[in-house]
Amino acid sequence: MKKSYAEIYKESIEYPDKFWGEVGSSIHWDVPYDKVSDTIDSHHRWFVGGGLNTCYNALDIHIDEGRGGLVALYYDSPVTNVKKAYTFLELRDRVSKVAGVLTGLGVVKGDRVVIYMPMIAESLIAMLACARIGAVHCVVFGGFASHELAIRIDDARPKVIMSASCGVEIKTIIHYKTLLDEAIDKAEYKVEKCLIYQREQSKASMIEGRDLDWVKEESKADETDCVIVDSNDPLYILYTSGTTGKPKGIVRSNGGHCVAMKYSMDKIYNCKQGEVFWAGSDVGWVVGHSYIVYAPLINGCSTVLYEGKPVRTPDAGAFWRVCEEYKVSCLFSAPTAFRAIKKEDPDGHEVKKYDLSNLKTVFVAGERCDSDTLRWINSMTKKPVIDNWWQTETSWPIASNPLGIERLKVKDGSPTKPMPGFNVQILNEAGEVCKSNELGNITLKLPLPPSCLMGIWENEERYQSSYLAHYPGYYLTGDSGYLDEDNYLWVMGRIDGVINVAGHRLSTGEIEEIISSYSSVAECAVIGIDDELKGELPMGFVVLKENNTKSDDIIKKEIIALIRNEIGAVVSFKIVLIVTRLPKTRSGKILRGTMRSIVDKKEWDMPSTIEDPEVLKEIEIAIKENK
Ligand code: COA
Ligand code: AMP
Repeated sequence: MKKSYAEIYKESIEYPDKFWGEVGSSIHWDVPYDKVSDTIDSHHRWFVGGGLNTCYNALDIHIDEGRGGLVALYYDSPVTNVKKAYTFLELRDRVSKVAGVLTGLGVVKGDRVVIYMPMIAESLIAMLACARIGAVHCVVFGGFASHELAIRIDDARPKVIMSASCGVEIKTIIHYKTLLDEAIDKAEYKVEKCLIYQREQSKASMIEGRDLDWVKEESKADETDCVIVDSNDPLYILYTSGTTGKPKGIVRSNGGHCVAMKYSMDKIYNCKQGEVFWAGSDVGWVVGHSYIVYAPLINGCSTVLYEGKPVRTPDAGAFWRVCEEYKVSCLFSAPTAFRAIKKEDPDGHEVKKYDLSNLKTVFVAGERCDSDTLRWINSMTKKPVIDNWWQTETSWPIASNPLGIERLKVKDGSPTKPMPGFNVQILNEAGEVCKSNELGNITLKLPLPPSCLMGIWENEERYQSSYLAHYPGYYLTGDSGYLDEDNYLWVMGRIDGVINVAGHRLSTGEIEEIISSYSSVAECAVIGIDDELKGELPMGFVVLKENNTKSDDIIKKEIIALIRNEIGAVVSFKIVLIVTRLPKTRSGKILRGTMRSIVDKKEWDMPSTIEDPEVLKEIEIAIKENK
C-alpha cells in the first residue's frame, strides 16, 4: 500500500539512515557506499565511501538505458529568435567534448571553473562538462557586474573561466566579456585561461594567450568519459548573499545532491520520466542549478532553458506560449514573474490563446507568494499552484506539498509542510521550541538531509558562525515564521540583512559597503522596502561628509550608478535619501526595522533603546518630503 506523507515524514526523521539508504539506491553508483551516513571531521556526511558521477546520472544513464533519443533540453530564446532541441545523446556528445576542452586545459578533479554566462545551452553544457570530469563549477549570475565577479574569482581561484561574448536582455546587449575582463583586472588572483563563446549578437575581443574560442576548441576536442568522484567530493560552489559584504560560497556534494535531486523531482514536483519540467529562472541561482539543470535530467525529464522574460519578450503570453509549445507538465517560477504578467494582462487575454492541457501544476518559490498572486495564477491556468520554501543552502524544498507522495490540502500563504528529512523547529531567542502559531526563528534540527550545504568554501568558521553557532544542534535558516496547529509552516521574512528583489537574494550589508566607498559618504544604511512588483526594493539613507562640494542630485545619481556598476543592475537600486543623521540605539545599532516601518507606512513605536528620538522624527519628515 502507498505510504502517506505523515508515515514517510516520520520515518525520515526517526530513522534517517534507513530512509535515505533506500532512497539512495535510486541513482547509479559506480562504487556502492559503505555507510548511509557518518560523522567525518565533525561533519555529518551522506553516502560515505560511495563513488559516482553526476553527469553520468544526468545524461549517459539515459542513453545506456535506451532513452538517448528523448529530448533532454529545449533551448528557447525569444530575444534572439532561436529555438533548439537536444536529445540526451546530442547533449552528452557536446558535454563530453567540452569536458575534453577543459581536460586539455589541464583541469582535473577538484579544480574550480567559474562560469559567467547568459541563458544559453552552453551554460548548462559547461556545468555538466565540469561535473563529468569532477571539476567544481562556480556559476556566477550574469546580472552581477565586475566587482561581484571579481570577489568570486578571488575566493574560488578557478583554473579556467567559461564565459560568452554577450547576453541579451530584452533589447539591450550586455557585454559579458567586457565585464569579465574588468573583473579579472580587479581580482588579485589571475586566471590562466578563459574559454569564450562568441555570440553573433556581439563578438568580443580576445586577449592572446589567455582567451580561447569555445567553438574552435570544442570542434577539435576529444570525447571524454565520466570521472568517478567520491560522494562527498564537491560538485559545485554557489555564492549567496549573507549579512556581510562578502558572499558565502555554498559547497554542494555530488552524492547527496544527486539523490535529493531525483527524489524531489519525483516526490515533491511529481514530474516523471519523459515529462517536461520548466523552471523559469536563471542558471545563476540555485533554482536554476537544481531545477533547470540537474533534477529534471537526473530524473529523465526534458528541461527548458528560456532566454527571455515573462513580459516584453514579446508579450505577457510568453510563459503560456512556452508551456504549450513544449508540452510543459510542471512550471516553476518566482511569484514576481507572475506579478509582472498579471500587471500587463490582469484579465488573462494572453493565457486564453494557449493550450495548457499538458500543464499539471504551477510551482512558486524564491520569495513569499502573496495570496492575490497565488489565486490569480490558479484562476488563469485552472491548475493547482504550489508554494515551496527553501534556499541556496538546501538546494531542494524544506517545505512544500509533496505531490508525488500525497496531495495535501493547500492553505494560501503557507508553503505547506516540512519535507522528508527536514526536521523543522521554531525556536525562540532562548532556544526553546515555540508553541503552535508562535513566531520564532525557523531552524532545522541536525542532521540536515542529503544535498544541504557541506560548508562554506574554505571558511569553516563562517559556516559555524552563520548557521550552527546560534543554536547548538540546529541549523539557522535566517527566516522567521511559525508552525500552525496542523503543522503547516508560515514563513514571515528574514531575520538578517538579506532582502529579496524580484526573487534575487541580495545583501543590504554589501550595498552599504559599496555606498560607503563613495568619497562624500560619511555613513549610510540600506533597507528593503515593500514593492508591488518585485516584492522588495533596496532604499539607501546617506549621511554626507561636511566638506563635499557636489550637489545632492549629482551625489544621488553617482551612488546609484556605483551600485549598478559594481554589483549589477539586478539590485534595482534607485532610491537614495540624503539625511543629516541616522537613527541609532544607545549602543550604536542603526534602527533599520523602524525606518522600514516608516517607509512602508506601517505602525511603529518609538524604540525604548533609541539614542535620540529627534533623529527618527527627522527621518520621517525626510521620507514624507521625498515622496
Ligand atoms: N544579465 C544581465 N542583466 C540582467 C540579468 C542578466 N542575467 N537579469 C536581469 N538583468 C538586468 C535587467 O536587464 C534590468 O536592467 P535595467 O535596470 O537596465 O532594466 C535589471 O537587471 C533588473 O532586472 P529584473 O529584476 O529582471 O527586472 P526587470 O524589470 O527587467 O523584470 C521581472 C522584472 C519581474 C519580469 C523579472 O524580475 C523576472 O522575470 N523575474 C523572475 C525572477 C527570477 O527568475 N528569479 C530567480 C529566483 S527563482
Ligand atoms: P535563495 O537562497 O536565493 O533561494 O533565497 C532563499 C530565501 O528566499 C529564503 O531564505 C527566504 O527568505 C526566501 N524564500 C524562498 N522561497 C520562499 C517562499 N516560498 N516563501 C517565502 N520566502 C521564500
